[in-house]
Order: sequence, then C-alpha cells, then structure tokens
Amino acid sequence: MKFFVLSLFFAVVIAGPLWMEANDVSLIRHSWDKVKTNEVEILYLIFKENPSIQAKFAAFAGKDLETLKGTAPFAEHANRIISLINRYIDLLGDDGNDATIKAILEEMGEKHAARGVTKDQFEAFKVTVLNYLKSHVEWNDALGKAWDTAFDKMYSIVFTKLH
Ligand code: HEM
Repeated sequence: MKFFVLSLFFAVVIAGPLWMEANDVSLIRHSWDKVKTNEVEILYLIFKENPSIQAKFAAFAGKDLETLKGTAPFAEHANRIISLINRYIDLLGDDGNDATIKAILEEMGEKHAARGVTKDQFEAFKVTVLNYLKSHVEWNDALGKAWDTAFDKMYSIVFTKLH
C-alpha cells in the first residue's frame, strides 16, 4: 500500500500538466473514432444549441442554420474544428508531446481571444460535444470522467489566453 501511494505521488509530481492515464486516453480515442467523421452534424448542433457561438462567425451570423448546414464553407469550418480536436487527442497520453499541445492550444486561445470568444461559450461547446457523444457511443461514468478531464486540460491552456 505504501509503495502504491508513493508511486502515485511520484507519477503525479513528475508527470506534466497534460498527463492522463493511458486507459483514459484509450477510452477517449475509441469513442472519438466513432463520431469524428460527423463533423458537420456536430457543428450544426453546436450552433443550434448555442446561437451566440454562430453569431461570432462573420460568414454565418444571422443566416439560416438549416441552409448553412449543407454549404461548403460550413463543412470546411467543421473540418477545421474537428481536425484540431483530432490533433489534441492524437497527442494526448505522451508527456513528450506536452510542449506541442501547449503551443497549439495557446495559439488557438490567442486567436479566439481576439474574436471575443468567452469561457462560457467554450463551456457550452463542451456540453454539446459531450451530449453528442453520449447519444452516439456506449456511455458510462469512466468514459464521462475521461472526457471531462480531457476537456478541462485543454481549456486550462486555452483559458490562459482568453480575456
Ligand atoms: C466555443 C466557441 C467558439 C467560437 C465562438 C469560435 C469562433 C471562431 C471564429 C469566429 C473563427 C474564425 C472563422 C473564420 O473567420 O473563418 C474560428 C476559427 C477556428 N476555430 Fe473556433 N470558435 C469556438 C470554439 C472552437 C473550438 C472549441 C475549437 C477547437 C477545439 C475551435 C477551432 C477553430 C479553428 C481550428 C479555427 C480556424 C483557425 C483560426 O482561425 O483560429 N474553435 N473560431
């Protein structure tokens, strides 16, 4: 027991801020693989549930979402968002990638800060994505905990750049 507690202590102290248990990373990857090609549907739901997010896009603000959904610019943007999440998930689980993850997310945070995106909007984005996952993959507490951790770690970097 003592050894276990001690190893846990060292694992947490030595590991970087983005350290996640391998099992959690694997849970995330398997569930994400099942939905990551549904990027248009995911962005559609994000806009539908959060009109203030759609309103931040010069090209989409005030436009009919049902029409937008079938357009090329909408698919392109959905792709950009999902590709960034793909990259983050691909890099997770290896401490050697911490600096790269941090750099990518700081850049994203800076760009979004410049557009006036708020923490509340990012939190709302997370709620929609998690609800989408819940209705498309087999859900349980362990998977929910893993996703919460992954989003919270992502946002802990992005939020350092928001105003
Ligand atoms: C939660 C609220 C969010 C809002 C309001 C928002 C808004 C925007 C806007 C207005 C643009 C510029 C689009 C253009 O002019 O072409 C953009 C670009 C982008 N967004 Fe977001 N975004 C949000 C969240 C996210 C999240 C969570 C991700 C990824 C995890 C993301 C990834 C990107 C990427 C990769 C781009 C293109 C590169 C760039 O210009 O930054 N966004 N976003």
